[in-house]
Amino acid sequence: MTLASFASRVVEWQQREGRSGLPWQQSADPYRVWLSEIMLQQTQVATVLRYYPRFLARFPDVQSLAEAPIDEVLGLWSGLGYYSRARSLHRCAQVVCAVHGGRFPTCAAELERLPGIGRSTAAAIASFCFHEPVSILDGNVRRLLTRHLGFDADLSKARNVDALWQRAQTLVPIEEPTSMPRYTQGLMDLGAMICTPRRPRCAACPLAGDCRAYASGEPERLPMRRLA
Ligand code: ADE
Repeated sequence: MTLASFASRVVEWQQREGRSGLPWQQSADPYRVWLSEIMLQQTQVATVLRYYPRFLARFPDVQSLAEAPIDEVLGLWSGLGYYSRARSLHRCAQVVCAVHGGRFPTCAAELERLPGIGRSTAAAIASFCFHEPVSILDGNVRRLLTRHLGFDADLSKARNVDALWQRAQTLVPIEEPTSMPRYTQGLMDLGAMICTPRRPRCAACPLAGDCRAYASGEPERLPMRRLA
């Protein structure tokens, strides 16, 4: 028996077992997806579910956010923490309006130039909204991929992180771009629900069949942590 490709296992698992019905999954509007990704960067889904609809009700589009006084933005953010995120959010909305005519750029490379949007967030937005075949690599996905690949290089070194980005990119389903939203969501969901930092649920993982860390019997040993 041969294993189905990495990407098809991620996509099929997401469809069966992944998270669905979240409000930001109902739209391919980059404004809505961008807002959810920024909120979800350091905040649990359950908390974002309380803030996201309120924020959207007050700021339904990028123009209304760009024109709002920063104090009002900070007020609606209050309780989410990490207020620099709210300040970047506001600046990003202003740049999208002033430089891009109120429309978000449609590729990850351009999105990444905007305030507060890093490489992984840019890839999330581009894959969810525009089906661009680019990989995310947030903390959860780093853990999943280092384990799957048996990637034991020191991730405090930029060149090793670059190498992991390259490996991640080789796994995306470039021949099936319409599956990109589900692929990206599947990586996020596997990282959050199955490939957890402690006691990963390998018996339920669609990727265990060719996972190096699983085969080693000690999946928790990756990602490599430097000794202090
Ligand atoms: N964390 C970051 N992005 C997410 C998303 N789209 N769904 C669930 N958790 C996330």
